[in-house]
Order: sequence, then structure tokens, then C-alpha cells
Amino acid sequence: MEWTSLNDLREAYLKFFESKGCLRKKSYSLVPQNDNSLLLIVAGMAPLKPYFTGQEVPPRTRMTTCQKCIRTGDIENVGKTARHGTYFEMLGNFSFGDYFKKEALPWAWELLTSPKYFAMDKDKLYITVYTHDEETYNIWLSLGVKPSHLIKLDTNFWEIGPGPSGPDTEIFYDRGEKYDKQKRGISMLQNEEENDRYIEIWNNVLSQFNATEGLSREEYPELPHKNIDTGMGVERMACILQETETNYETDLFMPIMHKIEEICNIPYNGQMQFK
Ligand code: ALA
Repeated sequence: MEWTSLNDLREAYLKFFESKGCLRKKSYSLVPQNDNSLLLIVAGMAPLKPYFTGQEVPPRTRMTTCQKCIRTGDIENVGKTARHGTYFEMLGNFSFGDYFKKEALPWAWELLTSPKYFAMDKDKLYITVYTHDEETYNIWLSLGVKPSHLIKLDTNFWEIGPGPSGPDTEIFYDRGEKYDKQKRGISMLQNEEENDRYIEIWNNVLSQFNATEGLSREEYPELPHKNIDTGMGVERMACILQETETNYETDLFMPIMHKIEEICNIPYNGQMQFK
């Protein structure tokens, strides 16, 4: 796999989706505007909610962003896992009633595996799919994903408070047995156990429903059109492409660490819990 600096990977993603007709927009503020349901922006889709619901007309029906995020729900994991941070950036490509899964999933596969882009080893990618979403399962099969790398889960449904939501399909990268001392393998994905072996790098949400307080998922009304909402953690992708143990050892943080080493005259010995 090619080593890619975090800045290059961010740019490669945004350029790739521009080539698919997406309008590139700068990150929105971390503070939600006109949205009382969120304290902070937790995902690339959050500032775009009015476009998904049809409340506002988007500048284009295809967009791509790299959004500043703080995910309060994950805060307890920060410092305990290799892959959680307080602040992070989320790359995303979005469709507001424009392209849907037949385009979005092949594009995701192309960007991840093509030698022109991230050139990831297909055998190291595992994908979860919403149990009842046969169409998505079959799209992955048609792209050459082996059935042994596809995992059906009842829980693959993405929502965060009221608003756009839907079944999702998550792409994981296998960092190998080094991060799985008990050799539990994909049972960890099947049982949705916390682990640092299979890292979720990209979530593709097939955003079709309007999550509504007081209703069960089966009762959510359909959105006026079908949408795509995706999220790729920039720091996680950099960690994998640069083959570092944790998100904190990529070229985003190491120059800062080296400066601290120099000022303190104390060598950095890695993250203690990963020794
Ligand atoms: N909105 C989806 C997520 O944050 C892509 O995982």
C-alpha cells in the first residue's frame, strides 16, 4: 500500500468526488446552526440536514466535504483505543436525491482499492451490511467482495437524533493478528466487539428515512428522495495508510511530538497501552 500523507489523502478524496460531479465545500462550523438537536457537529451530514429533508435546496445535488467533528458519544473511548479522538475530521460525499447505492458503493470500492488511488489490499477489507438489505449485499458481491468478507448485521442503521437516517454499510480494514492476540478474527465484527484489529474506515449511509421522535424505526416516514451520506475518518485512514499503531502517530501528530521531545529532552516511547 502506498504511504499517503494526511493532507494528500484528504485532497485525493475530495478530488475523486469532484471528478464524480460533487461540489466541494469547506468544512462548516463545529457549532450547529439552527439545529437544537445537536450540541456540536458530530458528522459530515449534520450541517447538511436541510438538504436531505428537502427543507432547503442544495447548491448542487452532489457534494463533498471534509467536516470538523466532535463526537461526544465516543468521548469515553478516547485514550483507550487506537482509533478514537476528541476532535476529528470526516470526509464525506453526499447525494441529495441524486446518485444512490449503485453509484456510491462502486465509487467507494474504486477509491479504496484502485492502484490510481489508495490501492488497499482487497483481502484486508471487510464490509458490514444491514441484514434486510439484499440489494447492497449483491452490489458488493458484484464488485468482487468475497461472501466471507461480508457480514450481515441487524444493527446497521445510522441515525443521530431526529432527521435523515437509513440502513448503512460499513467498510473495515483488517490490521491483522498483531491486534488480535486471542485470534478471535471476524467473530469480533460479527459480535460487534470493541477491537483495534478491524478498523472502521468508511460508513456509507443509504439515507432514506426521517427519524422521528416517538416512532419506531419501522414507522419512520420516507424522506422525499433517496440520499447518500458517507463518512470516512481522516485520522483513521492516515493511520492505516501510514501503518502506524494509533491515530496519534501519523504525520498529523508526529511533528508536534518530535518538537515536544526536543523541548523536553525526553524520547517518545509510544502509547503505553499498546506495548
Ligand atoms: N453519517 C455517517 C456517520 O457519521 C456517515 O457514520
